[in-house]
Amino acid sequence: MKTIVFLGAGRITSALIAGLRLANYDHPIVVHDRHPEKLRALKRQHRVEAESNLARAVERAELLIIAVRPDCVSGLLKEIAAKPVKRKIIAISLAAGIPLSKLQSALNKTVRWARAMPSPVCRSGQGLTALAFSRGISAAKQKEVRELFLSVGAVVEIPEKQFDAFTVTFSSSHGYHALATLTAAAEALGLDHKIAGIAAAHALADGIAAWRRSSSSLQELLQEAVTPGGIAGTVIESLESAGYRKIIAAGLRAGAKRARRNAARFR
Ligand SMILES: NC(=O)c1ccc[n+]([C@@H]2O[C@H](COP(=O)([O-])OP(=O)(O)OC[C@H]3O[C@@H](n4cnc5c(N)ncnc54)[C@H](OP(=O)(O)O)[C@@H]3O)[C@@H](O)[C@H]2O)c1
Repeated sequence: MKTIVFLGAGRITSALIAGLRLANYDHPIVVHDRHPEKLRALKRQHRVEAESNLARAVERAELLIIAVRPDCVSGLLKEIAAKPVKRKIIAISLAAGIPLSKLQSALNKTVRWARAMPSPVCRSGQGLTALAFSRGISAAKQKEVRELFLSVGAVVEIPEKQFDAFTVTFSSSHGYHALATLTAAAEALGLDHKIAGIAAAHALADGIAAWRRSSSSLQELLQEAVTPGGIAGTVIESLESAGYRKIIAAGLRAGAKRARRNAARFR
């Protein structure tokens, strides 16, 4: 593996580097950010090289990971374009919404683009990352990118047109939010805070773990857990009639709309 350079030392960079170190990734990792204190923290925690000069950071890159918020990507790429990259490098954008075509047109042709959508769960090596490659990236380079993300969890390759739908669906925030919501509802019924958390975590995690291990369909597992006319059935019926499915669908649509806005604002 080659020198990886992260532009942006925020949440996802910290999680990815922690996952890479956990996987004993021992090649050079260089990080650039406009906040020196973030660079110092990553250097202390994960033995990265901190580079406060953007041009020097890019100069080191064989894999360049763009890990700034979507609204900062355009400005960052303009700064990079001011000192064009003359070597062939692969740039991987983590930015939600911004398509490969726009990224490709922002820098010269020596830079070839991929998109990756990881989650902070990659910190534990158990994450999931979606990948999409632009045309012109060799099979060997695609393998390099795939292997990088495989070291922090599973990888799926999806057509770029499905990237926004994947982004709004797979976030670990769904799990945390569902856990917090179920716990709070249980507490409101009088269950002790700690027990409510344990019960809600088992409800969500055990169901999913059982589905992963089982050869039965989700529908069959649901039927097994729901006695007709029983308590679980009553809860689910009530959720459904209160518009649970519509609420989830509306949430995902709002996220996808936001991703499209990221793309539209990129100039
Ligand atoms: N967090 C996640 O779970 C997650 C998951 C998948 C993908 N992503 C994607 O990853 C990207 C980063 O997300 P994040 O949550 O890690 O963001 P973040 O915590 O805000 O980190 C981004 C860092 O980059 C810095 N930065 C922005 N523009 C810069 C520039 N021109 N030069 C130097 N430093 C610059 C920011 O500084 P300022 O704060 O001053 O702007 C900040 O320190 C986003 O595009 C997001 O869509 C995030």
